[in-house]
Amino acid sequence: MTDNNHIYPIFNKMLSRKDKEELLHQRSVMIWLTGLSGSGKSTIAIALERELHKRGLLCRILDGDNIRSGINSNLGFTEADRVENIRRIAEVAKLFIDTGIITIAAFISPNNDIREMAAYIIGKDDFLEVYVSTPIEECERRDVKGLYAKARRGEIKNFTGISAPFEAPAHPALTLDTSVLTLEESVGRLLDLVLSKIQKKQDI
Ligand code: ADX
Repeated sequence: MTDNNHIYPIFNKMLSRKDKEELLHQRSVMIWLTGLSGSGKSTIAIALERELHKRGLLCRILDGDNIRSGINSNLGFTEADRVENIRRIAEVAKLFIDTGIITIAAFISPNNDIREMAAYIIGKDDFLEVYVSTPIEECERRDVKGLYAKARRGEIKNFTGISAPFEAPAHPALTLDTSVLTLEESVGRLLDLVLSKIQKKQDI
């Protein structure tokens, strides 16, 4: 039988999420960006964080740069590894959310099951799914990292959109197509979506 009580004898003395949110004068939420490689997720995450930071709101970005090079450096791009990638990311995100920090994730997270798992771990009420819907033609035209070209040549296997599937979210809270929206417009729409949820009433 699993009993973790003996591991955390002071658990009931730990400060709560609410205590931390009050300290920070904000409410935490998970902003989960999903979309193809090169769709603009990380660019949007970075610009959004700057806008929120300017308003005195503390954020944490989780993306490939800080997750796949560190905690998930042992994972690749098989279906099982992608599930484990997102599972760990969701568990880490939950720690930030529970610390009162607005958390912005930028991962392909290629199907509904994987995103539902993340929402379940984090808590559906805190989870805002944002679909960065930039068409693959545009992502491939940008090919910032040269990976689409490699995938076309067969040098990368299981590449999302080329040789591995991407399933669009059915009911995202917001959809942003960066082939038609400027970065400022995308961030503006995100601010419209999140500000009322994360600013404490007396701070608005
Ligand atoms: S996810 O599918 O597990 O959510 P994640 O967002 O962490 O993917 O990583 C995607 C990034 O890894 C891409 O932007 C790209 O730079 C790189 N990458 C390397 N190999 C692949 C691949 N086979 N499929 C997709 N992205 C890949």
